[in-house]
Amino acid sequence: MRRVYLDHTATTPLDPRVFESMKPFFVEKYGNASSIHRFGQEAKAALDESRDIIEKLIGAHPGEIFFVSSGTEADNFALKGVAWGLRKTSGKNHIITSKIEHHAVLGTCEFLEENGFAVTYLNVDGDGMVDPDDVRQSITPNTGIISIMHANNEVGTIEPVAEIAMVARDHQILFHSDAVQSFGKIPVSVGELVVDLLSLSAHKIYGPKGIGALYIRKGTALESLIHGGGQERGRRAGTENVPLAVGFAKAASLVQNDREVESARLLCLRSKLQSMMEGRFPWILVNGHPQQSLPHLLNISFDSTRIEIDGEALLFNLDLAGIAVTSGSACTSGSIEPSHVLLAMGRQEKTAKATIRFSMGRSTTAEDVEYTVDVLEDVVRRIGRVKE
Ligand SMILES: Cc1ncc(COP(=O)(O)O)c(C=O)c1O
Repeated sequence: MRRVYLDHTATTPLDPRVFESMKPFFVEKYGNASSIHRFGQEAKAALDESRDIIEKLIGAHPGEIFFVSSGTEADNFALKGVAWGLRKTSGKNHIITSKIEHHAVLGTCEFLEENGFAVTYLNVDGDGMVDPDDVRQSITPNTGIISIMHANNEVGTIEPVAEIAMVARDHQILFHSDAVQSFGKIPVSVGELVVDLLSLSAHKIYGPKGIGALYIRKGTALESLIHGGGQERGRRAGTENVPLAVGFAKAASLVQNDREVESARLLCLRSKLQSMMEGRFPWILVNGHPQQSLPHLLNISFDSTRIEIDGEALLFNLDLAGIAVTSGSACTSGSIEPSHVLLAMGRQEKTAKATIRFSMGRSTTAEDVEYTVDVLEDVVRRIGRVKE
């Protein structure tokens, strides 16, 4: 059976070149990067070089990248680290974020609320955009950190991060952005985005699972979350995962090398997919900003006022036909809860439940797109009930 993987936002396959780059650090160059002997120094050199590569790719200064276990940990580290630090030093206890953040940010904010912090969750408009004026108006003398994602993982909307960061800077408030989905798809420069903290993850860019990074602008005060040895310059204890760091850096270099060409190709495929869908299914609504959007992602809902269709049955039937898609973020797939992102954008609950997120990648071809739309047409004919 033909299989089409259209869930690159959830994760990507490991690039074989990345795998090759990592291999020696499992079996031959296995030293502990904190050891002073030659085995250790060999591992440390590879770790330093990997850090250096990622720093250069995002325009950071040396020593501003800290390796962590995932994008989730990077988000936790940024928010909890700053929050605990601020509480100690300035007593500030207010956080501003948006309703459409990834659960790694939202769950962390909820935890911080349970621990005495106050959080403002900003609304977004119908395209999933945060308004910098709303950020400005939510600032209080107690605001210590603002966290707004660079690009949304469900609908692909690219947020006006630099503008929001300037608002934060004007008020001397730290600014964090989750760039897990934007890195490798659109330019990510910590200078241009004016961020103090930025989260990254390797497995979204054909790198290994289990490693991410937090960019911490020099001089930014934050508490450590993991205590123990002095690894990662005392900020994140635990023996460094050298093979994964090497793989992360290799994956980042490779995506950066062909980012422009590949993003343009994916944009063409997305346009094709969107126009084919709109041609065949007059009841769909496209979610996300029409221009300020990630190139590889198309999120559509079946308008519940015009067609009745069960979202889960839709995904299940596509899977039976070999097509892997999701209805929202990977973390919530499998649950019947409507997406918090779509609800925040004003979609009806029933419509939000009948949603498909297509996210394309290196292996996606025009034939895959055509096959997907053909299969979907058949599935919709079988399980959908048009109301008009
Ligand atoms: C925007 C965003 N932030 C954070 C994460 C979590 O990253 P990781 O899977 O590396 O924990 C994801 C994963 O889907 C994401 O899309």
